[in-house]
Amino acid sequence: MANKQHGFFSHQTLEKNIGVMIIASILVVSFAGLVQIIPLFFQHSTTQAALGIEPYGALRLMGRDVYIREGCVGCHSQQVRMLQAEVQRYGSYSEAAESVYDHPFLWGSKRTGPDLARVGERYSDIWHRIHLRDPRVAVPESNMPAYPWLQHAKLDGQNVQDRMRALRKLGVPYSDADIAAAPQAIAGKTEEDALVAYLQGLGVGVRQARQAQAEQARQASATAGQGAAQGN
Ligand code: HEC
Repeated sequence: MANKQHGFFSHQTLEKNIGVMIIASILVVSFAGLVQIIPLFFQHSTTQAALGIEPYGALRLMGRDVYIREGCVGCHSQQVRMLQAEVQRYGSYSEAAESVYDHPFLWGSKRTGPDLARVGERYSDIWHRIHLRDPRVAVPESNMPAYPWLQHAKLDGQNVQDRMRALRKLGVPYSDADIAAAPQAIAGKTEEDALVAYLQGLGVGVRQARQAQAEQARQASATAGQGAAQGN
């Protein structure tokens, strides 16, 4: 048995030559990866905005950039997973189509603090301001850093139009009118205003669109029910 002849294209060749084995493994794993990944570039569910998702307005866009600069993503994810406990705590789970205008996306991978994907409208603007200036005032046991300087940092003169043009190159559908109106939208605002506007929008568009859809469906079925009742 041990002396049995075998051709070059046999399992033994692979298993006895570690170099060939490594190359073959890389080929197989890469192929399998590409089969999973490439279709995602062409699926509507990953490439087209979900219902209720709009490009960020100028103020929210600046707020998002403050969020990135201050490293909020290091402690907060924006990705509700498909687990019942998460959905009960935060709201409906996140879908890829919600992030089509996020360059870069901020799904995060660390949760020192809670997930923020659905935090919009959960608290008042005032609560956010108090919390950002000193988290311990709102939540005594919090270990979140304070960001008191944001209320003094003005947005005037920041290159919001360049940022929007750059995003337009990446496929975010800003119109010339949107870009022209941007400096006016951030005039006199602070970084704190922008960050609060950004936080207050997280998850809101999707929730409202789904509620409107559910309401329509409810009305449609009520009308259908009435029709059936009258038919009898
Ligand atoms: C060192 C980790 C850390 C960093 C950095 C951090 N946070 Fe937090 N954050 C927390 C923790 C912990 C909590 C929970 C306690 C609390 O509410 O303060 C929290 C809570 C929050 C909440 C309330 C969420 C809820 O559902 O109750 C918001 C909003 C928030 N953070 C926004 C931010 C923003 C915006 C930034 C960046 C400017 C930021 N955080 C940076 C740790 C962090």
